[in-house]
Amino acid sequence: MSQICQRSLVAANRIAISSPAAVLRCKSTWFSEVQMGPPDAILGVTEAFKKDQNPKKINLGAGAYRDDNTKPFVLPSVHEAEKRIVNRGMDKEYATIIGVPEFYNKAIELALGAESKRLQAKHNCTTQAISGTGALRIGAAFLSKFWKGNREIYLPNPSWGNHVPVFEHAGLPVKRHRYYNPKNCNLDFNGMVEDLKKIPETSVVLLHACAHNPTGVDPTAEQWRELSQVFKQRKLYPFFDMAYQGFATGNVDGDAQAVRIFEADGHDFCLAQSFAKNMGLYGERAGAFSVICADEQEAARCLSQIKILIRALYSNPPIHGARIASEILNSADLRSQWLKDVKLMADRIIDVRSKLKANLEKLGSTHNWEHIVNQIGMFCFTGLTPEQVDSLIKNHSVYLTKDGRISMAGVTSKNVEYLAESMHKVTK
Ligand code: LMR
Repeated sequence: MSQICQRSLVAANRIAISSPAAVLRCKSTWFSEVQMGPPDAILGVTEAFKKDQNPKKINLGAGAYRDDNTKPFVLPSVHEAEKRIVNRGMDKEYATIIGVPEFYNKAIELALGAESKRLQAKHNCTTQAISGTGALRIGAAFLSKFWKGNREIYLPNPSWGNHVPVFEHAGLPVKRHRYYNPKNCNLDFNGMVEDLKKIPETSVVLLHACAHNPTGVDPTAEQWRELSQVFKQRKLYPFFDMAYQGFATGNVDGDAQAVRIFEADGHDFCLAQSFAKNMGLYGERAGAFSVICADEQEAARCLSQIKILIRALYSNPPIHGARIASEILNSADLRSQWLKDVKLMADRIIDVRSKLKANLEKLGSTHNWEHIVNQIGMFCFTGLTPEQVDSLIKNHSVYLTKDGRISMAGVTSKNVEYLAESMHKVTK
C-alpha cells in the first residue's frame, strides 16, 4: 500500500468515529480511469435471474442442463465415476502441462472415432484444456503466434457470444460469414457458401461441429461434404468448436460427423472440445484442444509450442473433472451408462420443444413456431425481438439472452405452460 494511501486510511479511521462510511474510502488514482464494464451477455442473465424474487421466474439464459424439476443434473455415470475415483484414494499432485493422458487421448478418440486414420498415424497433438472456452483460447494463442495465412478469423453470423472476445483477446481480428436466415429460421447455406468463396484464401474459419449455438441449426451431412470441398478449393483452414457432442442427435458418433467428414477428406484442422454439457461437468472445466497436423513430426513440434503457451497461461489444468471423464471414457460399463445419460438429456429437450410449440398453439398464437421443433441441441433461436425479450424479462421474469435465444435445457414440463403464456403475451 502506498504511503499516501496508508496516511489517508489512518485519517479515515479517525474520521470513522464520527462517520463510519469514510473508513472504506481510500483515495487512489491508479484505476480512476477504469469504466464500469457491461455484464456478460450470457452469464449476466443468470446474475439478473438470481436477484429476481418472482416465484415463477425461469432462467433460460446460459446453456446448462436442468432436470424436469429445474434442478442441476449430475449424470449417473459421473456419480459412479466420482465414487470410483474417491475410493482409489488418488493424490492431488500436479498434472503435466497438457493434463491427464488417459483423458485427453480418449477425448480426441471420441471426436475422430477409434478407427481414425489420422489418430492411428499420430497426426494429432492434443492437450487437456480448461473446458471448451479454454480450448478455444489455447487455439487462439497458437494461431496468433504461428498462423502464416490471413490473420482474420471468420465466424458464422451469429455465433456464440464469447467467440469474439476469445479470439480478439489473442489478437486475431474477427469477421463474419453468412449462416442463419432469420426470415425462415433456417440455414442460409447458399449465402454461407457464397461468402466462403469470397473470403481471402488461407483464412481461418470457425465451424460449430454440431448443435450450433445460438441458432440450433446445423448443415446436413451432404452440406458438410460440400463445405469440405469449398474449404479445399479456397484453401481455408477449419477450426471446429465441438461443445455439444451428443446434444444434436443424442448420439456422440452421429454428432461428430462434420469433424469426421473433414478428417476423411484430408483436411488439417484445429478442434476445441468441451465436456461441460455432454457430461454435465460444467464447473469441473474438462475440455481438450487438438491440432490435426500433416504428420507425426509436425504434431510433435506443435505440441512442444502449445506446452510453452499453456505454461504461461495457467501452468497446468485441473485434474478432478479430467479424471471423471477419463473414468467414464475408459470403462466399458460407465461409458455405456454415459451414452444413455446423454440420450436422456437430449430426449428431454426434444420433448419440451414439442410441448412448448403445442402450448403456444393451444393459446391461439398465430405465429409459425415450427422452428422450435426443427432446431436442434440445447438452444432455440426464437426470433423474438430485443423489445419482446425485454418484456419477457421485466414483465414475466423469463430470463433469456438479448438475441432471443432460449436454453431449452431450462424448460420443463412444469414451467412450459407459463413460458408459452409469457411468449404468447409478448408476441401478440
Ligand atoms: C452458453 O452459450 O450459454 C454456454 O456455452 C455457457 C457460456 O459459457 O456461455
